[in-house]
Amino acid sequence: MTTMTTTRLTALAALFALAAPLTAQQPGDGTAPRMFEVAGPCMACHNGLTSPTGFDISFGTDWRPSMMANSARDPYWQAAVRRETMEHPEAAAAIQDECSKCHMPMARYTAHVEGRSYEAFGRLPWQGSADPLAALAADGVSCTMCHQIQAEGLGSDETFTGGFHVDTETPLGQRSVYGPYDVPTGRSRAMLSSGLFQPTRSRHIRESALCASCHTLYTHARDERGEVIGELPEQVPYLEWLHSDYADERSCQSCHMPVVDGETPISSVLPTPRPDVSRHVFRGGNFFMPRVFNRFRAELGVQALPIELESMALRTLDNLATRSAEVALRDMALGDDGRLAFVVEVANLAGHKLPTAYPSRRAWLHVTVTDADGRSVFESGALRPDGSIVGNDNDADARRYEPHYAAIGDGQQVQIYESVMVDGDGAVTTGLIRGVRFVKDNRVLPRGFDKATADGDVAVRGAASGDQDFAGGSDRVRFDLAAYNAVAPLEVRVELLYQPIGFRWARNLGEFESVETDRFVRYYSELAGVSAARLSKATATVE
Ligand code: HEC
Ligand code: HEC
Ligand code: HEC
Ligand code: HEC
Ligand code: HEC
Repeated sequence: MTTMTTTRLTALAALFALAAPLTAQQPGDGTAPRMFEVAGPCMACHNGLTSPTGFDISFGTDWRPSMMANSARDPYWQAAVRRETMEHPEAAAAIQDECSKCHMPMARYTAHVEGRSYEAFGRLPWQGSADPLAALAADGVSCTMCHQIQAEGLGSDETFTGGFHVDTETPLGQRSVYGPYDVPTGRSRAMLSSGLFQPTRSRHIRESALCASCHTLYTHARDERGEVIGELPEQVPYLEWLHSDYADERSCQSCHMPVVDGETPISSVLPTPRPDVSRHVFRGGNFFMPRVFNRFRAELGVQALPIELESMALRTLDNLATRSAEVALRDMALGDDGRLAFVVEVANLAGHKLPTAYPSRRAWLHVTVTDADGRSVFESGALRPDGSIVGNDNDADARRYEPHYAAIGDGQQVQIYESVMVDGDGAVTTGLIRGVRFVKDNRVLPRGFDKATADGDVAVRGAASGDQDFAGGSDRVRFDLAAYNAVAPLEVRVELLYQPIGFRWARNLGEFESVETDRFVRYYSELAGVSAARLSKATATVE
């Protein structure tokens, strides 16, 4: 920006200061410097951006409908926190504080710097609370959260479970937000003067270890007295990734924040084409919740526009259908004894287990066989309109669960890729703060993941650990069925279905009576019929 005069820069900065007024009002009790800002003012310069091929790549409007932008409004999260506080009333304050760590990170961090613990339910976004931390809480995982995480300790235990570090000393107006580029002084001043933060280059923003701080989550189980009795690796996609081939090939960012083709300006002020710009779409697997946000937008205080939320849902469905998994049918044979045999192969294309992260996620095989007269010869894994899976023991009875299968011979058996937790007494549970270990974890492994050398935190659990066909990158399931009276040719169809929130995870919340749990159970039952999506399918015919 050597050609731009200082006068013009100052004028520009003043203009944007008007467009995006920032108050230096202190959100907490005044004992900590003001560290964070909501996303709104950043959008004044980081929206309205178009790629060379004509795509809108605005940072603010891409982020706004994402799960991270809505992590505090998320009615499932609120219901889950309420359930935990009702189940462990002695530890209610500690639980609210712990559960805010990553879902309301800016407000919670500020409170802690001031030496206070954080009470999530005191600041729910729609309550219009007078508490100045409420706006920071509502903004979820926002721009000045990710962009202020320091390099210190990233990728180690110290920063897992939301233990990231943010500068607690530097006053507003001198603070750095980290980015991948070298920003010349002129442009950096333009941002500082009205954005109140200074763009600063640092490599750590491009590393997976940054994401690992919130995406590596150990929860602590408590007993009836509220005492901590165990630790569970509840969500560890980063550790799964580390044990796979992807650790040397692709970062979290490279898959979840796709790079724009061609050089694109990253700011509407002083626009300069930049290479390798990363879209802030944070595409993942949760296509269900953006639709909940849309449908109940008034009740939930949602800010993203309806069209943004629907694009988010469609983008996520596309991610699931094209980049997550592939199924194939192999070794089909119809024997003289009237038995039909085939193998279903499931390949995982993601950079970690499939499904990964929150334990309510599940993927399963829906397999049907029909004969020449169109009669159904076999079916396993059908979805019911209430979100439950036919044949799944856990959906039928909360105390049981469906094991992993190496082979399936009966329509009451269904291959479900999931993790199942048990409490200290060995009883199956969906209570995060009851879970002490997994009895089943047969989520499909990423390429290069060796289950024999896997650490306990990412280990395969249950029957899959001894199944030779369950290995790095894929699973193979043998089907061997009776087809005695069927008229050939037979058509076999297999689809791999996926649900962000499995039936039992929503249903169990109904046992707890509160505004948040009742509301979420209602949302789930209204939308249960569209709670699943297809990741991949294959069809074959046998004579
Ligand atoms: C270390 C950070 C961290 C902490 C602490 C944390 N969460 Fe989360 N939570 C996440 C992340 C990351 C996801 C998203 C994972 C995914 O999409 O699979 C998530 C997802 C969820 C979801 C699923 C939301 C949805 O829309 O499907 C629920 C429910 C939830 N968390 C409840 C809780 C509760 C209850 C607590 C406290 C006991 C808690 N979380 C504490 C990071 C955290
Ligand atoms: C979940 C964390 C996260 C959030 C939230 C987030 N960013 Fe980013 N941002 C990143 C990462 C990571 C990169 C670097 C990506 C790379 O180069 O691999 C980045 C890069 C950028 C860049 C440089 C251009 C680029 O694509 O490299 C700008 C500008 C930016 N972010 C602005 C914003 C704004 C404005 C917001 C809020 C509306 C925001 N970010 C929210 C993580 C985040
Ligand atoms: C007055 C306009 C303006 C505002 C407001 C603004 N920025 Fe910027 N930002 C810029 C400019 C100009 C650049 C430099 C662009 C370039 O060099 O290509 C930039 C660059 C960045 C970068 C890239 C830094 C790097 O080193 O790679 C990030 C990240 C960023 N801004 C985040 C934010 C966040 C977060 C906010 C809200 C607190 C914000 N910006 C508010 C104008 C602004
Ligand atoms: C400050 C904590 C924090 C950081 C840092 C963070 N995340 Fe998240 N992330 C969350 C939380 C909390 C959620 C879940 C919100 C919910 O479901 O309510 C989430 C959800 C997501 C999802 C959505 C998954 C879905 O269900 O569709 C993706 C994708 C994601 N994060 C990617 C990333 C990437 C990539 C990075 C690093 C650039 C990152 N996150 C850094 C806290 C964080
Ligand atoms: C090779 C591409 C790739 C890489 C690398 C990758 N992911 Fe993913 N990720 C995916 C795909 C595809 C999905 C959707 C399928 C699924 O849910 O597993 C996904 C889903 C997720 C989800 C959402 C699951 C849900 O509940 O909706 C989270 C959270 C996540 N990834 C975090 C991470 C983190 C953290 C890293 C880095 C340690 C990472 N991912 C690396 C491709 C990738």
